[in-house]
Amino acid sequence: MSKNFDVVVIGGGPGGYVAAIRAAQLGLSTACIDEWKNEKGGPALGGTCTNVGCIPSKALLQSSEHFAHAGHGFAEHGIEIKSLSLNLKKMLDRKATVVKQNNEGILYLFKKNKVTFFHGRGSFEKSDASGHQIRVTGSSEETITAKNVIVATGSLPRALADAPFDEKLVLSNTGALAMQEVPKRLGIIGAGVIGLEMGSVWRRLGSEVKILEVLPALLGAADTQIAAEAGKQFAKLGLQIELGIKIAGIDIGKNEVTVSYADAKGSEQKERFDRLVVSIGRVPNTQGLNADAAGIKLDERGFIAVDDDCRTNVPGIWAVGDVVRGPMLAHKSEEEGVAVAERIAGQHGHVDFNTIPWVIYTTPEIAWVGKTEQQLKEAKVDYRAGSFPFLANGRARALGDTTGFVKFLADAKSDEILGVHIIGPNASELIAEAVVAMSFRASSEDIARICHAHPSLSEAVKEAALAVDKRALNF
Ligand code: FAD
Ligand code: NAI
Repeated sequence: MSKNFDVVVIGGGPGGYVAAIRAAQLGLSTACIDEWKNEKGGPALGGTCTNVGCIPSKALLQSSEHFAHAGHGFAEHGIEIKSLSLNLKKMLDRKATVVKQNNEGILYLFKKNKVTFFHGRGSFEKSDASGHQIRVTGSSEETITAKNVIVATGSLPRALADAPFDEKLVLSNTGALAMQEVPKRLGIIGAGVIGLEMGSVWRRLGSEVKILEVLPALLGAADTQIAAEAGKQFAKLGLQIELGIKIAGIDIGKNEVTVSYADAKGSEQKERFDRLVVSIGRVPNTQGLNADAAGIKLDERGFIAVDDDCRTNVPGIWAVGDVVRGPMLAHKSEEEGVAVAERIAGQHGHVDFNTIPWVIYTTPEIAWVGKTEQQLKEAKVDYRAGSFPFLANGRARALGDTTGFVKFLADAKSDEILGVHIIGPNASELIAEAVVAMSFRASSEDIARICHAHPSLSEAVKEAALAVDKRALNF
């Protein structure tokens, strides 16, 4: 006898586990299947984000930033450290503890919300008008059925054709987060979000880092002014980034990897690295799902094809997160998961793609929401811009971190905020105000009229809003 549920969620990453909790909160009997294993073979809920993504990368970014501060940042504050040493094992153990706390937190939340958890792989067996049948194999062995299924199977790293990941010399995000010693020469292919964040970690810990990027410009999705500032700051930190390259070949030796490439001028180059991280994007994960058995259609890039509401072509089957179109971000997955659970329960879940924030946790941090200046120009939107540098912000001076600026873009007529771009200290937290403002369709004047605490970095946000009307007070 198969167990029957109102909703079965396949995948326990941020899209899936949050969808399961929301469905259960709405009174639907809910199960979640996830196959991720910890080193002991037990469940490790949270998907890519918790196990080899957002959480461990932020743990290492924090630890390595402390190390960098202790090495060269504290002296300016009159704190002198005579002998500084790195205990990488302890740093990695701390990262593992942070991951484990998150894994266990999700198991606890499942119990609290009465979500039934199956540890194993979920594969479609058949689908018809009576519902969908899913076989679970692994630690749990079951056949379960449901009227509604939410597929949240996430993504996998994309490999270069001639350099498959071995996680020893050629590393994906998994290996890049787990190197047991600091490589002397670290090569990275792809100056995207992972390349820049992982490059920052290992650079701060002492590696010579070279990032090779195919595109002629850095951070193509960011506002060009922000990207230009980022390029300058990364160079100061010693991240060597070469743009406009074309990989010609990768030779994997016993202890090192040699990358041959044509540089931006077309000249042949060769670089030898102790480790090579390949971070050239991610691909949707439908491995083992047996999507065909349910008749689920994929798009031409292998993503599960969905409409604006995350419905697949099969009634009752939905898909959310990295396995469908749109940005591969944990919070986008979560929003979609919640919205789908609410739609199944007859409510009107909604995700506003225009107010999804982007954050890159480098030094300086980069964060934005809404349109870039180049997008507004291309769309011929009449806009006004206002910027404010952290150099003129009292709190930033007190912190000893005055890099970067806040930039507002607002509609020239209505003054509605169209985009906010931040590079500098705590950009990841400051962007939340802009997201709230844009979600409420606020104007730059609304932000300019709101009282912001002094001294705080958030005053730079208010000042940038004032600058839209050319009336910044402190610059
Ligand atoms: P996933 O998190 O990939 O979860 C999918 C889950 O489904 C996995 O546990 C998988 O094992 C399971 N699964 C797959 N198939 C099956 C099956 N058939 N049966 C059972 N289980 C299955 N995003 C941010 O927003 N902020 C960040 O700071 C950030 N940092 C990142 C850093 C790195 C290094 C990486 C790689 C990614 C980062 N991301 C970040 C992206 C983020 O991790 C993803 O967008 C997010 O995890 C997607 O969530 P998801 O639920 O769609 O999929
Ligand atoms: P990405 O899409 O951010 O960057 C990939 C980069 O590799 C691009 O700049 C691309 O032009 C380049 N590239 C592609 N093929 C190449 C080649 N053959 N040679 C040289 N360069 C090449 O993808 P990335 O960094 O792998 O990250 C995957 C996803 O994970 C991202 O889409 C992002 O959404 C998510 N992520 C989010 C984070 C955050 O929110 N802070 C942190 C890390 C990852």
